[in-house]
Amino acid sequence: MNEVIVELEERSYPIFVGNGLLKTIDGLIGEHLAGRSVCIVTDSNLKERFLPDVERSLSRCARAVHRCVFPAGEASKRLSTIEAICREAVRAGLDRNSVFVALGGGVCGDMTGFAASVYMRGTRFIQIPTSLLAMVDSSVGGKTGVDLPEGKNLVGAFFQPEAVVIDTAFLETLPKRELSCGYAELIKTAVILDETLFAFLEADAGALLPHPAPAQTIEAVSRCCTLKAGVVAADEKESSQRAILNYGHTFGHAIEAVTGYTKVEHGEAVAIGMSVAARLAVSLGFISRETAERQDALLRAFALPVTVPEGCSAEAVLQAMGADKKNSNGKLKLILPERIGKAGIHTDVPREMILNAIRERSAQ
Ligand SMILES: NC(=O)c1ccc[n+]([C@@H]2O[C@H](COP(=O)([O-])OP(=O)(O)OC[C@H]3O[C@@H](n4cnc5c(N)ncnc54)[C@H](O)[C@@H]3O)[C@@H](O)[C@H]2O)c1
Ligand SMILES: [Zn+2]
Repeated sequence: MNEVIVELEERSYPIFVGNGLLKTIDGLIGEHLAGRSVCIVTDSNLKERFLPDVERSLSRCARAVHRCVFPAGEASKRLSTIEAICREAVRAGLDRNSVFVALGGGVCGDMTGFAASVYMRGTRFIQIPTSLLAMVDSSVGGKTGVDLPEGKNLVGAFFQPEAVVIDTAFLETLPKRELSCGYAELIKTAVILDETLFAFLEADAGALLPHPAPAQTIEAVSRCCTLKAGVVAADEKESSQRAILNYGHTFGHAIEAVTGYTKVEHGEAVAIGMSVAARLAVSLGFISRETAERQDALLRAFALPVTVPEGCSAEAVLQAMGADKKNSNGKLKLILPERIGKAGIHTDVPREMILNAIRERSAQ
């Protein structure tokens, strides 16, 4: 087992990464649960598969264990689900000293964290991520949020968990497409922060997909969490450097919006977005064409797309990028690679160059 610490002074917390950790989970987080009531929040897909085992494990240390199940899927990421979780918690008798446990993917983590941040003006929470995306991205860093009809993640809070328990054994049942989407975030982190992780993913792609081998998966996941934890520790509320984690996302969010959030998964859109951003970096002279191609080859090795889908015009993508909330003061903020392992934030890229980069990666 590996342990990564997110250093946030009195709010610092551990991330445990291992295979089969669920069996010994009481030993890892027992001190946070002892004498307290716990509410495990999970989605309808995972209720039968994982909930009974987790309930049994947590019952060994908590005073009482309750459950709250919401319908699986992004459509549940709304304020009415937060209300439903809080009402369920009141009915179960949870007080300010209780603990919420998120057992699921990024949707579950975001909603449980948000509910915990507002329930009785703030209680505790622990993350047990089950999707790869949640393991390497959403469970680390304390961002929580829900969608509004007007856009994604528009309401939320920064709220850090007490601990994160990553059991890579959960990945055995994760659909392949979801697995690839998690790798998109892992590759993103490698491109912007760590050439060694990038080279590791290149060398071990065969051991990580389609069936994630425990040793290599633990290595890749803990390295990614260490890197993200470092960025979060330096800039918790995204006032500056944390924005580099949005690499591929400004283009990616726009592609998701233009395709109506149905055809392309988030991780796939991010992969395409990274491919476009790398081409833009080539035309600005930051990286060589070979470096951009090396990145695309790794994305393809993890079964991710690297071309803008048909029917998604460069003009429409650029227009949707203007509506992204990650922009500051009306200026388009772009994260561009400077080499494998380093990226910078740029706000003054000419419009025509952006359009050309999107066109270059568009399906012919
Ligand atoms: N808070 C953050 O910093 C942050 C960062 C990135 C993404 N997010 C959010 O995360 C969400 C996406 O996360 P996600 O992709 O995990 O979505 P998700 O939670 O909807 O999970 C995807 C699907 O996989 C299923 N699933 C999860 N684990 C499984 C397993 N082990 N076996 C079988 N099925 C499993 C789920 O039931 C669901 O149907 C988005 O809402 C996004 O906005 C948040
Ligand atoms: Zn993402």
